[in-house]
Amino acid sequence: MDSPFLEPRIGIVRKVVRSRKLVLALAAVITFAIVQVISHLIISTNLLDGIRGSSPPPPPPPPSFKDTPLMPGPPPGTQGIWGQFFGQSASRKCHELPIPEDYWILSGEDTPAFVEIPHLSDISVGESVCVRVIVPPKPANLTAAFVPLPDMPWDSILLDMVGAATGISVPVKLSYVNDDRVERHDGVHIYQADVELRDADVYRPEGYIEFRDALWNPEGELVPQEYKPEELKISGLSQVMVTDKYRSSEYSLWRYLDLPLCTESDVDGRWVSVGMIPFDASVLPLPDNLGRVWMPYKCRLQRISYSDFAKCAIEKYPRMHWYGDSNLRRVMKKISTLGEWCSTEEDRNGNACRCEDYTVPFERFSIHARDTFLDLDPVTGGNTLAGETDYARVPENKTRFAIFKMEGLTERNMPPWDARFQNGLVKKFGEPDAVIVSLVNWDAAFNSYEYFANQVKLLIGYLEDTYPVTSKLIIRTGQYHCCYSDQTRTARKYSQLRNGYFNDMHIGMIKDALSDRYSVSVWDVASIAQRRPLVGRQESTQCYSNHVRSEVVEVENQVLFNALCN
Ligand SMILES: *[C@@H]1O[C@H](CO)[C@@H](O)[C@H](O)[C@H]1NC(C)=O
Ligand SMILES: *[C@@H]1O[C@H](CO)[C@@H](O)[C@H](O)[C@H]1NC(C)=O
Repeated sequence: MDSPFLEPRIGIVRKVVRSRKLVLALAAVITFAIVQVISHLIISTNLLDGIRGSSPPPPPPPPSFKDTPLMPGPPPGTQGIWGQFFGQSASRKCHELPIPEDYWILSGEDTPAFVEIPHLSDISVGESVCVRVIVPPKPANLTAAFVPLPDMPWDSILLDMVGAATGISVPVKLSYVNDDRVERHDGVHIYQADVELRDADVYRPEGYIEFRDALWNPEGELVPQEYKPEELKISGLSQVMVTDKYRSSEYSLWRYLDLPLCTESDVDGRWVSVGMIPFDASVLPLPDNLGRVWMPYKCRLQRISYSDFAKCAIEKYPRMHWYGDSNLRRVMKKISTLGEWCSTEEDRNGNACRCEDYTVPFERFSIHARDTFLDLDPVTGGNTLAGETDYARVPENKTRFAIFKMEGLTERNMPPWDARFQNGLVKKFGEPDAVIVSLVNWDAAFNSYEYFANQVKLLIGYLEDTYPVTSKLIIRTGQYHCCYSDQTRTARKYSQLRNGYFNDMHIGMIKDALSDRYSVSVWDVASIAQRRPLVGRQESTQCYSNHVRSEVVEVENQVLFNALCN
């Protein structure tokens, strides 16, 4: 997706340019600079129009050479200077950008960890920018028992590219650079990521180091360590302008309503302020408490009322099995009340809706029961079964949910989680059209990854033995976690990287084992939370159970409903 008029300009000038050449080059460069500044101004104005304007944009002209503005190219021999000073070259991938050799000998005593954008240039919407983080070693406690999970880094870094005008936050998914030196505990750790930016804005990196020395991973007998974030130096020059020259980008908010409806529950997107939506936002799922709506990049979410979800479920999923923890309880509170739970502003700011509803009585079902059965209809919502003897039956014009409470696959389940599967579960409760399994929150908090992996293996066997291949399997990820460490006596071990690892591991295992026969999909609530602005993610520091606020539960539900019903 190179801009038509931006030629790639390679390399930096290494040789000393002789003086005559230099004069010529400088003259050319100055002329070009003026053109650049003017065109920059035009682009900036368009950028803000695109975001803030209230009238629809003119229809985008077809991208053809005729429409390419006449822009003088750099004079021969000056490409290097050109690209270096005016930054007008195409996007570069990290693997094309060498790492200076002297980075490998930096010491943390003299050089703080820093973020670098090795190829600073403006890019077009949909292109990527390479972002690097260099973490020189500090005298580490090499006798410490902490080690990373397999193939995971020593340092836990929280880093986003944040748009100045839109506040859109795009996670930088760092991995080690491809170099043997990087994995040594006492060496320099260099990370990088190609970050695709799909909304016009000026982006800057923002973030910090959560932990060094694998202290993010208190496996086994180890306990969670104090959260003492370390600053990352970020140069003021590290900013990238992303332009949508003709507002013709496929990701443009102006075109959002032209996108197909979402049919998957794990698609990438961003949170956009309602005020920036160039159409009536009431067609979208409700905004969160920060006034932002979740908008996937490549498909469109519609707002599906709880009644409409009930109608859809009656038709397409008359029987569903749900396995999960308190996060699922919060989902069910919304569904069973047809959205009434936490619907008033006063409620939403109360503790139960913001974080912990564990002690609050709830009339639709017992929140302490291990097994809950709800019949859902579009008018009265979800109601527990009174006097039912045949749990496998589904009454006319209703959908029946069997909800199995589980503390992940931990040994904290009473009775053990696998006991349910040993008594002819389907015979008793019927063959479901969809099975939703929500794990990880308890597992990452209380168990080692090896224990979890073994339990997942067992679970896979039970799922296979229990469910016909016509049951759609939906894995709900564990919650995203960041920004604090549990220093209470409960000592939950969750952390950004642990939760991410446990998520990826069990999704990979289940897909590998079952996706050739079953439809296996992912309800990715973790990446929705990870893309909230940092201030939103920091709400969890006031919520040790790591529940998301009811406004975010609502968005998670909409993502599922769209995938099931569109
Ligand atoms: C080093 O690690 C050990 C084991 O985790 C711990 O007992 C000790 O206090 C640590 N020392 C320092 C200086 O952090
Ligand atoms: C189910 O819905 C249909 C169509 O709305 C209706 O005709 C029928 O009477 C309903 N059945 C029951 C048991 O409510």
